[in-house]
Amino acid sequence: MKSEPILEVREVSKRFGGVHALEKVSMQLLPGEVLALAGDNGAGKSTLIKTISGVHRPDEGSIHYGGKEVSFDNPQQARDCGIETIYQDLALADNLDVGANVFLGREPMRNVFGVPVIDRQKMRREAAQTLKVLDIQLTRLDRPLRSLSGGQRQAVAIGRAIHWKAQVLIMDEPTAALGVPEQRKVVALIRSLKQSGVGVIFISHNLGDIFAVSDRIIVLRRGIKAGERNISATTPDEIVRLMVGG
Ligand SMILES: Nc1ncnc2c1ncn2[C@@H]1O[C@H](COP(=O)(O)OP(=O)(O)OP(=O)(O)O)[C@@H](O)[C@H]1O
Ligand SMILES: [Mg+2]
Repeated sequence: MKSEPILEVREVSKRFGGVHALEKVSMQLLPGEVLALAGDNGAGKSTLIKTISGVHRPDEGSIHYGGKEVSFDNPQQARDCGIETIYQDLALADNLDVGANVFLGREPMRNVFGVPVIDRQKMRREAAQTLKVLDIQLTRLDRPLRSLSGGQRQAVAIGRAIHWKAQVLIMDEPTAALGVPEQRKVVALIRSLKQSGVGVIFISHNLGDIFAVSDRIIVLRRGIKAGERNISATTPDEIVRLMVGG
């Protein structure tokens, strides 16, 4: 059975001054598929996902989501359509609690004597439900994010994507700053997202993580797609060769 891609990038190019960050890069993502993006520093991985998530506009080419061409002005628009992007540090607000972070930018309101106020009880209650579904153990949802570990923060960000029923989740180096147990947890969460039919794009320098969790891998090299492989049909050695070129 082959389903339609939830996301498709067609021949996208992006330049910054004289730097060709992306040159006619194409890719497809199926629902429930985990796609890894690999490549050396500066290969264009972050630029590619930023072009998908509305941070950058492509200079050439097009992006299709759910079968329609899209052009997002900013990441919030992409998020509202179901494309959630998680950056290692930028996605969450340190001074807010867990509930508030799940709802960041989309807070539920209630009326008090006709005045709209943020419904914090509801935020914490719903955040707790979401995190429970994901088997994320956080004892206190009213703790500020800065008191959480890197892995717990990633878990909150993933919980946020689940809560809003993202169809595509993009993760830029989600395990880079984590300890080994936390990396395992994030890898397990990616697997559970896959089970629920979410398409995941996962950027990593860690080939162990990539081989543990991905179905397919695209290797970028200086803005060009150097190769694309099914994980079951390649090896870390081959991926490294594609990354460095030859
Ligand atoms: N906002 C920007 N302005 C100017 N140049 C940029 C900008 N963003 C990226 N670039 C350049 O585009 C190229 C690709 O960068 P990008 O951040 O996409 O690489 P990357 O594959 O994510 O690398 P890394 O693994 O180090 O995160 C680099 O040469 C980078 O310097
Ligand atoms: Mg990057």
